[in-house]
Amino acid sequence: MTQSRSLSLTGLADTAAFGHSLAMVLKARDVVFLVGDLGAGKTTLARQIIADLCGIDDAPSPTYTLVQLYETNAGVPLWHVDLYRIEAADELEELGLDDAFDEAITLIEWPERLGAALPADRLEISIAMSGAGVDTVRKARVTGFGNWKDRLDEF
Ligand SMILES: Nc1ncnc2c1ncn2[C@@H]1O[C@H](COP(=O)(O)OP(=O)(O)O)[C@@H](O)[C@H]1O
Ligand SMILES: [Mg+2]
Repeated sequence: MTQSRSLSLTGLADTAAFGHSLAMVLKARDVVFLVGDLGAGKTTLARQIIADLCGIDDAPSPTYTLVQLYETNAGVPLWHVDLYRIEAADELEELGLDDAFDEAITLIEWPERLGAALPADRLEISIAMSGAGVDTVRKARVTGFGNWKDRLDEF
């Protein structure tokens, strides 16, 4: 069984506020999946979390590097991962994500590329867009798996 809830991200201020609240609860070994089409706002949300936790503004998107590594002000490693360009299982293995799951805060865009071996404890944030241009509406669905089922009311 999972627990989930939804919130609207009407503008960038909402995404920033959501990022702030997530940043307050994230700790070592937390895994956050960021699901959504290109342009949904996955990187924007991750960037806010990185700004809050690591004091780094305008973190680059890991689209081409696959991983960007940071350290939080509390000394916890933070991995910002984008698996969009992963095409084969050996590429995935080379990334060494298991190390991140064991000790870091891990934010993963395009987690669909992970295949079947998903961390049991994870927060999934799925951002859906509808409409176009200035009328674009974004809705985030937040689902907790494993220990996150009981943590959804923390933020
Ligand atoms: N809540 C929001 N409201 C308005 N624009 C947003 C929102 N979230 C993201 N954007 C904008 O959408 C574009 C794509 O965002 P990005 O985070 O790069 O998407 P993704 O990583 O999902 O592909 C950026 O220009 C960003 O500023
Ligand atoms: Mg992105």
